[in-house]
Amino acid sequence: MNPLVDPFGRAITYLRVSVTDRCDLRCIYCMSERMRFLPRTELLTLEELDRLCTAFIERGVRRLRFTGGEPLVRKGFLDLLRGVRRHLGKGLDEITLTTNGVQLAGFAQALFEAGVRRVNVSIDSLDRETFARIARRDCLPQVLAGIEAAVAAGLRVKINTVALKHDNAHEIPDLIKWAHGRGHDITLIETMPLGEVDEDRTSQFLSITRVREDMQSYWRLIDLPDRTGGPARYVRVEETGGRLGFITPLTHNFCEGCSRVRLTCTGRLYLCLGHETSVDLRTPLRAGADAQTIHDAIDAGIALRPKGHDFQIERLSTPATQRHMSVTGG
Ligand code: GTP
Ligand code: 5AD
Ligand code: SF4
Repeated sequence: MNPLVDPFGRAITYLRVSVTDRCDLRCIYCMSERMRFLPRTELLTLEELDRLCTAFIERGVRRLRFTGGEPLVRKGFLDLLRGVRRHLGKGLDEITLTTNGVQLAGFAQALFEAGVRRVNVSIDSLDRETFARIARRDCLPQVLAGIEAAVAAGLRVKINTVALKHDNAHEIPDLIKWAHGRGHDITLIETMPLGEVDEDRTSQFLSITRVREDMQSYWRLIDLPDRTGGPARYVRVEETGGRLGFITPLTHNFCEGCSRVRLTCTGRLYLCLGHETSVDLRTPLRAGADAQTIHDAIDAGIALRPKGHDFQIERLSTPATQRHMSVTGG
């Protein structure tokens, strides 16, 4: 089958699947305390999710990342993994997930058994009170236990930290030392203007490009050619020996090399994190479409793929999209 190539010549090899928009945290930069979630009847079934993942793998997708909301709150999530696992080594190189870690302790072993080898876990602070303020839930102990269980189960863990000027900027070097001391990669992320939240994102914005420059006054950072398929650019911190990633959508655009498209739990295919452009795959799926019709619908989406986002620091207080990160899963 012909591979997926967008109008700018970029091959699509990475599918991010948001299996639910629900989450057991309410991170301040991500959603409002009173976030309204989709009714369950809107969701694709596990069989429908499997069918769409399979269609993308047939078209050259080599990496599947499950996200949410929080993927581990989706009922039957493990069954979905156990199903798509059949593609590993037959077109598919990797199945991963991005999780907030709250329920990871209970799932770690089963994830490993389902073929997952690495997970990305979000931690924005190691101070329990600060964590609880950012996530609006007092869950740091569960997340730390989740990471321990993941390591014990044989999973590699990458830490994701959204950099926030007032809440965690001062803690970033300690977070890096903590992660590297335990053998985890860590990635710093700039806050992105997706969906309305209760705060103005501008006041918390921290340039990761700037953080990196400051860091060079006390650490030696060695550029690495490593690529995971994601947007992070990596360095080795000589003093800690660990790998540190920078995700800089606002200060250093990386859209040129983007290989990712996103499927939501309602079957919408989004062509870029920062755009509303999408196509509906659920309607043809539920109308009993044959495989070719589904592939045609996917092609129609890929043909609409924009060149990149146009997030701007000056416009951070106005969301670039109506939908939140929890809908497309990052
Ligand atoms: P790996 O590199 O495979 O470990 O994954 P990743 O870092 O791409 O995935 P993860 O789900 O951990 O996402 C980390 C951050 O990167 C999240 O805040 C995502 O929203 C962001 N991100 C991922 N892909 C894109 C993208 O195409 N554009 C933008 N602007 N941000 C992205
Ligand atoms: N900007 C940047 N990162 C965000 N995340 C959630 N919302 C936003 C946002 N508006 C992060 C989470 C998690 C990853 C999937 O995306 O903290 O690490
Ligand atoms: Fe949940 Fe992730 Fe959003 Fe935090 S960032 S509220 S963990 S979806």
